[in-house]
Parts: sequence; C-alpha cells; structure tokens
Amino acid sequence: MEILFATNNPHKVREIQSLLPADIRILTLREAGLDQEIPEPFDTLEQNAQAKIQFALQHTGIGTGFSEDSGLFVNALGGRPGVHSAHYAGPQRNDADNIQRVLKELEGHSDRSAFFQTTICLRWDNQDLFFKGICRGTLRSTPQGDQGFGYDPIFQPEGADRSFAQMDLIEKNKYSHRQQAVQQLIDHLRQAQNSR
Ligand code: IMP
Repeated sequence: MEILFATNNPHKVREIQSLLPADIRILTLREAGLDQEIPEPFDTLEQNAQAKIQFALQHTGIGTGFSEDSGLFVNALGGRPGVHSAHYAGPQRNDADNIQRVLKELEGHSDRSAFFQTTICLRWDNQDLFFKGICRGTLRSTPQGDQGFGYDPIFQPEGADRSFAQMDLIEKNKYSHRQQAVQQLIDHLRQAQNSR
C-alpha cells in the first residue's frame, strides 16, 4: 500500500516511514507533485492537521492520505511555543533560533517540564480520523546531540538520561509522541485492509 503523507518535512517522513511496516510506503507531497508549505492557520493541532490533509488532497486529486501537526508545549511558558513551534523565532523556521528563544524565555524558571504532542489526521473513506500522541519530559539548559530535528537537542524524555538528539531513531521511537500516534494509524489501516 502507498499512502500520501501531507508533508515535505524530510525528518517527519523519515521518522514515520521507519515506524511503518514494510508493506506501507509513504508518498510525500513532493512525490505527488506539490512542492510547497501548506498553511497552518489554526490554534490547535487537530485543526491544522485537518487543514493540511484537506489542502493536500484538493491540490493533488488523491482521495486518501494523512497529515501530522505537532509541537512542543512548555508548561512554564503557558504552553508556548505549541502550534507555533516551527516558526517560534520567526519566519526563517530555524531550529537553532527557535531553541535559543525557548531557552531565553525559560531563564529564571525552575519548572522546566514540557511535552511534545502530535496529532495525525487520516482522511479515509470520506471521514477524518484523528490519532494523538504525547511525550513528556524536561528541557535541558544547553542543546546536546546532533540527531533528529527541531527541539530534539534540548528535550529529554521522561525515563531517559539524554536528549532526543543524542539518540538514534530506534531509541527516540521508543519514547516519541509520533510513535504513539503512528501505532494507532497502523492499527486503523490494518483493520481497514482486513475488512475489504
Ligand atoms: P509542524 O507540525 O510542521 O507545524 O512543525 C512542528 C514543529 O514542532 C517542528 O518544526 C519542530 O520544531 C517541533 N517538533 C515536532 N516534533 C518534534 C520532534 O519530534 N522533535 C523536535 N521537534 C519537534
């Protein structure tokens, strides 16, 4: 089975493809002929995920696919950067700049707890289905590691002693928010395949 994933973020494609069974292959937006950022105008992950898959299906003419919207929610910052994680330090969407802004805003706060949350929206048989995952952890005061993407260098999941960016993909997947949501997506796709 080949399924459209409405993103051009290579890190998300790599993480999600690594979680899928060998018989489910991701078709990226670029491969489907759409080489642009999809607008994310809403205040919730659910609404943005739904808007992304609707946009992608409309512009590619494909009938089925999924999208993902995610973010880092920092408790001492009232949940920021949240849905604005990708462009928190500005439209350049630069990971190092985003990390520096979060670290600066956290200065003086003793509560360094945070969580990643992801929402997948699957458009299947003309219905939108949502799958969610959360990974709780703490933010380190200096970035460490060079793997992964986004806020990985400062995020240490609960139960680990190093940052996501110090882990390979297999280890990150054991903790990650994305892994939890993708597992539900796989379960749904399997059930749908079996009932056909
Ligand atoms: P969006 O879902 O394209 O709006 O982007 C979500 C943003 O949240 C990414 O650009 C990252 O900055 C951040 N993010 C989401 N998931 C992760 C993760 O697993 N590790 C690090 N940063 C993440």
